[in-house]
Amino acid sequence: MKIFLFFIFSIFLLNSSSADEFNQILNEQEYAAKQYLMANISPSDAVPGTVIASPSRQGPDYYFHWVRDAALVMQVVLNLYEEEQDPVIKSFYLQRLDDFVDLTHLQQTNSGFQSYGEPKYFVDGRPYDGPWGRPQNDGPALRASVLMRYASVIVQNGQSLSQKLINVIKNDLEYTIQFWRDPNFDLWEEVYGDHFYTRFAQRKALLDCQLWANENNFKNLAQSCTREVNQLNISLNEFKDYDQEILKTTINRVGGLDYKYSNLDTANVLAVLHSYNHDGEFSPASSWVINTAKALDDKFKVLYPINSQYSHFGTAIGRYPEDQYYGGNPWFLTTFAMAELYYKLAIEFHSQDYFQIADNYMKRGLFHRGHGGSIAEQMNKYTGFMESARDLTWSYASFLTAMKARRAAVK
Ligand code: NOJ
Ligand code: NOJ
Repeated sequence: MKIFLFFIFSIFLLNSSSADEFNQILNEQEYAAKQYLMANISPSDAVPGTVIASPSRQGPDYYFHWVRDAALVMQVVLNLYEEEQDPVIKSFYLQRLDDFVDLTHLQQTNSGFQSYGEPKYFVDGRPYDGPWGRPQNDGPALRASVLMRYASVIVQNGQSLSQKLINVIKNDLEYTIQFWRDPNFDLWEEVYGDHFYTRFAQRKALLDCQLWANENNFKNLAQSCTREVNQLNISLNEFKDYDQEILKTTINRVGGLDYKYSNLDTANVLAVLHSYNHDGEFSPASSWVINTAKALDDKFKVLYPINSQYSHFGTAIGRYPEDQYYGGNPWFLTTFAMAELYYKLAIEFHSQDYFQIADNYMKRGLFHRGHGGSIAEQMNKYTGFMESARDLTWSYASFLTAMKARRAAVK
């Protein structure tokens, strides 16, 4: 009954809300998302710096530290640090980042160089040892990038970099330099091959490396990064589907799931949101990305029954059309990613229409959230109720980065 009332209440609010009311709903959700996100970092039974993917321990068990999720979440912690005025809260965020550096050192030591692509770790810092789709080579690249961003914050604060931080960054970069050509599992942990998402994250890490290594006088490392990124850039063209003018998600598949025949995947939208280098290559505003986003929306609009039930909200977006995980549902983080993309397009094209499209995706996501602004991984495609892991850290992170883009667009 309570849930039902909340539901009715949120339909009412989201349907009839004035711009001011909608802003207030967003602000309240933003506050809640920060609390939930921070609560999933360094829980008391974990090594400090651990980011649990979700507090859920069964059905599914997400009580692990995923390298990808953690790197994306630490990007958000850096955003929060930059937006915060209060010095006490600022230093609280920096403490989390310091702990994350120590944890990374522990994880790298435990797994060993060849296994830096291990996708997930127990909360005591040991690599997961059960069967899994491994390696996943986006992890070390995303982690290197967020740690280099952290390093620049430390330098701006007039401090010098610890040897530990320098070492963990170098390790991840060297791993990326050595293995970026190799097939590996995609971010959804299902397909073994070459993936746009992963390559684009590796590209960003190697470009960040050029700057960082030069600044710190690591001449050989800088040269290696330059050499490799030039090769890698060429390989990115293979992901262009010139017929449909969209981006393919995987090429040269060698194993894993084989039923993703459309090769259409929200992973490619996430790729440019997470790893665009602001240099014009695969910009969020490029036709490659916009066409990919539109094709995804077209598919999901008819694929998920909830999209015709509440069609005045934006489309609930999934990972990819053939998805079967938990029956194949829309996900919050992919729906918020579309919002974020369209806020960025609104800025780029000075378009009020794009801004409205973005807001509609936000309304869709908010409509399916739970009490107190809790957000799981998925929403059931028939009923709209939340599915799979509760309080997914990455769901909150994606809402917060969408809000950051929205604020930039409002300006
Ligand atoms: C667990 C993975 O995390 C998820 O992404 C995947 O869809 C399922 N396993 C099925 O392979
Ligand atoms: C499954 C998702 O497919 C994967 O991308 C994610 O890293 C894990 N769940 C943990 O959230």
